[in-house]
Formats: sequence, C-alpha cells, structure tokens
Amino acid sequence: MIKFNHVYKVFEKDIKALDDVTFSIEKGEFVFLTGPSGAGKTTVFNMLYREETADMGTIFVENTDIFHLAKRKIPFYRRRIGFVFQDFKLLFDRSIFENIALPLTITGAPQEFIKKTVHEAIEKIGLGGKADLNPWHLSGGEKQKTAIARATILNPPFIMADEPTGNLDEESSWQIMNMFGELNSKGTTIMIASHNKEITSRMAKRVIRLESGKVVLS
Ligand SMILES: Nc1ncnc2c1ncn2[C@@H]1O[C@H](COP(=O)(O)OP(=O)(O)OP(=O)(O)O)[C@@H](O)[C@H]1O
Ligand SMILES: [Mg+2]
Repeated sequence: MIKFNHVYKVFEKDIKALDDVTFSIEKGEFVFLTGPSGAGKTTVFNMLYREETADMGTIFVENTDIFHLAKRKIPFYRRRIGFVFQDFKLLFDRSIFENIALPLTITGAPQEFIKKTVHEAIEKIGLGGKADLNPWHLSGGEKQKTAIARATILNPPFIMADEPTGNLDEESSWQIMNMFGELNSKGTTIMIASHNKEITSRMAKRVIRLESGKVVLS
C-alpha cells in the first residue's frame, strides 16, 4: 500500500535527511513514525505529498510510483490522502468553515451537502461556534483541529498526520487519537508522526522509528 524502497535525500550542507529508508505499510494499518527532531519524519511526509522528490529510491502508494506521476495527476493523487501538516497550512484569508470545506468545494459537492458535512465535522472536533472565525483568531490547538477536520472531511483512504497533537492539551490529544482510531477501525490507513511517548506507547500500535535519516525500528 505504501512502500519506501531505499529512499535517499540529501539537503545542502550534506544533511542526510533520509539515508536508505525502506519500509512498507499495509492497507488498514495504524502506524506511528517516531524519532528525535531532525530525524526525517517531515521529509517522509513531504515526499508522500509529492512536495519533495528523492535523490534515489522509489515510493509506491497503492501501486503507483509517485515520483513518476504526471504533474496533472498530482492533485488527484493528493485527494486520496488526508494530510495534516506540521505547520497546518491553513488559508488565513478564509474562515474555519471555508478551510474545512475546501476539499469538498474542490470536488464540486453540492452546497447543502457541504454545509451539513462541515458543520458536523466542526461540532465533532470541538470547534463549535468558531465556524466563521478566521485562523488568526484561533489558538494553536484550534488551528490544529481545523487542519485535522480538513484532512478528514473527504473520508480519504489514507490519513497522514505530522505531529497532530503537537499543539493540543492532553484531553484534546486523546480525543483526536480516538478519532483516528475510529477512522482506522473503519478501514482508513493511518500514519502519524509523533514525539509523544505517552501517546505512542498507550496506543500500542506499530512504530517505525527514524534516527538521523535511518530506519532503526520498523
Ligand atoms: N528544505 C530543506 N532544506 C534543507 N534542509 C532540510 C530541509 N528540510 C529538512 N531539512 C533537514 O533535514 C533533516 C530532517 O528534517 P525533518 O524536518 O524531516 O525532521 P523531523 O524528524 O520532522 O523533525 P521534527 O521532529 O523537529 O519535526 C533536518 O536536519 C533538517 O534540517
Ligand atoms: Mg517534522
């Protein structure tokens, strides 16, 4: 389902962000990607998002070699994955409602359906009453929740979340983890980068660990 095959990425100044990374994730798995700061976790996500390409190696997602994907196909590829970015990537000139609705708007869903689905998602994630606010007016945790709601609104078969609890208090963190757990039990394949040892150990899921760009546990 997701297969990294001897992937290398060197940034300037000889920083080996990924150094012969090989792992695979099966359909329906729930996997944590762990490792200290600078280990290469976000680089893995950026490659899966097709924001970065590798210097060497291949990545297959659902049997597609993503580095050989035609440019025009990238938006369709991205639609199958719900991404929660470490830096959120929210649109600051739009409301919370519009941010979360964006993936649905792009697919051309009917207005009434968008309204209902987005309002339900807003309630579920605990942002009730904030729909019309702009991201400037939200706390870090609320921005995080907006990013998670946006990533999950299309019910994508994959969810990839980069430190999704980094800005959340303990209660919200568990709420979000339970939400990911629920989606996973319905068949969504989930990959979460996390530093949080308590979460990764209590969730008792498979862990892939990176250290200095190398897989040390998978
Ligand atoms: N665009 C870039 N240009 C130069 N170096 C980069 C770039 N992106 C990442 N790096 C370097 O690659 C290494 C891996 O970075 P990455 O962001 O993947 O780590 P991370 O595991 O996500 O860390 P954190 O836990 O702090 O988010 C780091 O040394 C980082 O400085
Ligand atoms: Mg990172």
